[in-house]
Amino acid sequence: MDTLHPDVDHVLFDQAEIASIVERMGAEITRDYEGRDLVLIAVLRGAVVFMGDLMRQIKVPLAIDFMAVSSYGAAAKSSGIVRIVKDLDIDIKGRDVLIVEDILDSGLTLHYLMKNLSSRRPASLEVATFLWKDVRGKQAAINPKYVGTHCPDDFVVGYGLDYAERYRNLPYVGVLKPEVYS
Ligand code: IMP
Ligand code: MG
Repeated sequence: MDTLHPDVDHVLFDQAEIASIVERMGAEITRDYEGRDLVLIAVLRGAVVFMGDLMRQIKVPLAIDFMAVSSYGAAAKSSGIVRIVKDLDIDIKGRDVLIVEDILDSGLTLHYLMKNLSSRRPASLEVATFLWKDVRGKQAAINPKYVGTHCPDDFVVGYGLDYAERYRNLPYVGVLKPEVYS
């Protein structure tokens, strides 16, 4: 059993739950992308852990690339400002692109990314997100094709997700104690 990090209030998804979610998503993607030209694009840095697990559960040939966008800074609330910090190295024109995201929160990041990537004329463009936050109020209209699981509208960390660049290495997803960021 993991020792709970003192800044984490409670665990939402433990290692075993995460593994079975990712295995299920990998099987869905494997089934859908047979015979296609799959490119996984992970959004740095939060999605790297999920990307590493997911790609090994996908049994069809694929390429990977990374983008870095910034929308949060060190704050716990979305700023609405999205800018590309690192662009793709490969050309996605005519290829079957799947964006790999750690968490869909306000949707601002994905909304921007989908617009940006679709202008490069991929054959298809879909989203796989590990978490989909049940947000009260406004959320950009994003319809991810693959969803790991829903999570409550709390600030969550671990499994790649950070607060001020910390906690990414926790092997579980947990709710951060509000006193840590308030
Ligand atoms: P959105 O643009 O509001 O959908 O947020 C997207 C990005 O914000 C995610 O890729 C995460 O990096 C970050 N983010 C949103 N919610 C959380 C959270 O609860 N914990 C950690 N990072 C988060
Ligand atoms: Mg982040």
